[in-house]
This record gives sequence, C-alpha cells and structure tokens, in this order.
Amino acid sequence: MRIRPRRNRSSATIRDMVQETQVTLSSLITPIFLMPGKDTRERIASMPGIYRYSIDLMLVEIQACWDLGLRTFILFPAVPDEWKDSQATYSYNADNFYLDAIRQAKSQFPEICIITDVAMDPYSSDGHDGVVENGQILNDRTLPILAKMAVAQAEAGADIIGPSDMMDGRVGVIRDALDEAGFTDVAIMSYTAKYASAFYGPFRDALDSAPKFGDKKTYQMNPANGREAIIEGELDTQEGADYLMVKPALSYLDVIQTLKENFLLPIVAYNVSGEFSMVKAAAMQGWLDEEKIMMEVLTSIRRAGADLVITYFAKAVAELYARQ
Ligand code: PBG
Repeated sequence: MRIRPRRNRSSATIRDMVQETQVTLSSLITPIFLMPGKDTRERIASMPGIYRYSIDLMLVEIQACWDLGLRTFILFPAVPDEWKDSQATYSYNADNFYLDAIRQAKSQFPEICIITDVAMDPYSSDGHDGVVENGQILNDRTLPILAKMAVAQAEAGADIIGPSDMMDGRVGVIRDALDEAGFTDVAIMSYTAKYASAFYGPFRDALDSAPKFGDKKTYQMNPANGREAIIEGELDTQEGADYLMVKPALSYLDVIQTLKENFLLPIVAYNVSGEFSMVKAAAMQGWLDEEKIMMEVLTSIRRAGADLVITYFAKAVAELYARQ
C-alpha cells in the first residue's frame, strides 16, 4: 500500500496542520434579543442560557462578548403587543428602544459591528413580515415600510442592514433608500435563501412574533427547493446585496454550498434557534456532549462554505477558546 490516508491523522499536531476548516471567532456573529425597560433580563424557556436584555444589560453583555473576542452582533427586538399595529409604524419611530439600543451600542463600543433585522413581524399586529390585507401578504405595499425601517436603523448607527422578510425586490428598494439618505457605506446582508422552516419556533417564542394566522409559505422558500436559491442569489446580487445568507443552516448545507459555488459575495449561514435548542435539549438529558456537538455543527456549516455563521453558540465557543 503506497497510499495510506491515516499518515495525515497520526498525531494531534499533524491533524491540526492538515485541518481544512477552522471556526474562528471573526467568523461568528452573536445574536442579542432586546426588550424595553431597565436593569432587567428575561429567560427564554425554549432557548436555555439565552435572554432578552434591556439596553443597559445589553451593554454589559456586549462588553463580556467583546472581552472574549467577539466583535459582531445582530440585534432583535421583543416589542410589547400594545406597540404593534398593522403597518409596523413603531419600527421606524425615531425614539423606539431598538434604535436606541443601536445608538447606545455604537456610542459605547465604536469598534463593534452591528447588524440589524429588517422585517415587519416583530412590530406587526398580524405577526407577518409583510402588510396583510384580506389574508394576503402584500409585497409592494411592504417595500416602503422596509425602506423606512432600514434608513432609521442606518441613522441610529447600524453598520449592516439585515432584511429577513423575503419580499421580492426589497434589497434594491433598501439600497436606493439608504443611498438617497446618504448611507452609501451601510451594507446589506440579505436573507437570500430563507426557508419556511419549523426551526424558527423558539425564536418566535423569544420575540412573541409568531404569525397570528396561517404560515409564511407564500414568501419564505419551500424547504424542498435548492435550485430556487440561485434565483434569489442572482436577484440579491443585482439589487446590491453585500452578503448572501442561507437560513436555517444545518438542514440546508447543500444550499450553502450552492450559493458559495455560484456567487462571489461572502456567504452567511444562520444556525437558527431550533438548531440551538435541539442540541441544548439533548445535552441537558445527557444524551450528547454539548461542546463537541457545538463544534462539529459549526465546523460542518463552515465546511459547507459559510464564511460567517450567526449562532447562539458564539459566546460558548469564545469561552471554550479562552479556556484552551
Ligand atoms: C423575522 C426573523 C425570524 C428569524 C430571524 N428573523 C423568524 C421568522 O421568520 O419567523 C429566525 C431566527 C431563529 O430562529 O433563530 N423575520
């Protein structure tokens, strides 16, 4: 036998040397859930170890993550029902607590990168990502609302705008609105291939943002479709996206690979709430080794082609590296 692949696995040093994929801290994006108030945080039952923070405690959490080497954060607001309406007007109200959180985070930590969420659902009394009329989600009526939301977030200091709504044409409309308002340097991370997935369940608990009727299948993609992701990738690229995202990650590794092979923009994968909760639940039962599974999951997402991974495990990875 002249060819023995085991030679390249024969010691830890050699295995490290030939390792193809690394999970670096600069490739991880940390999600943070926000709520109004002061000096409070609330546990999220379906996501053990994850909280909703008031702004002051968010700043403490960002400091802790920064000290561990994490630099990029994606923020999501949990909005009380009484501030929701059918047009999501609170989303671009200049003194809303989400915009305030962006302002405070950027003023206290000018070097961090803040990614926002653009979608109506956290602010909508219908719980949908678009304007609802007679049970229909109206694409073109939603676009100006998304544009206003994006500009308000850029004004607050956001570095990257993250449209997660899956309306057609939204990247272009947001790009034009940002440019017109003078925010030519604010980037867009598009949720390019966002699937109508049951893996978002715990997140909707976290934000109380579940749709009040029906589902999201007329705008989010069918989990059975892979080639369709290329159509979305082409549109987002033409419309001026700076990053293309696949979401969820684990059941969609082939889609991550497809986008990586077809496009030159950085590819982002969202390791979503349900993927996190499954690992946590099994680990809490003692059925899986949480740390090893976490690293194997994140390594596989990177190996499939994700340059960046949004993950609720980001802080745990940073803590693990700090111990090593
Ligand atoms: C809202 C949004 C969702 C997620 C991110 N932005 C939920 C949804 O589309 O219903 C899910 C994230 C997660 O599950 O971790 N537009």
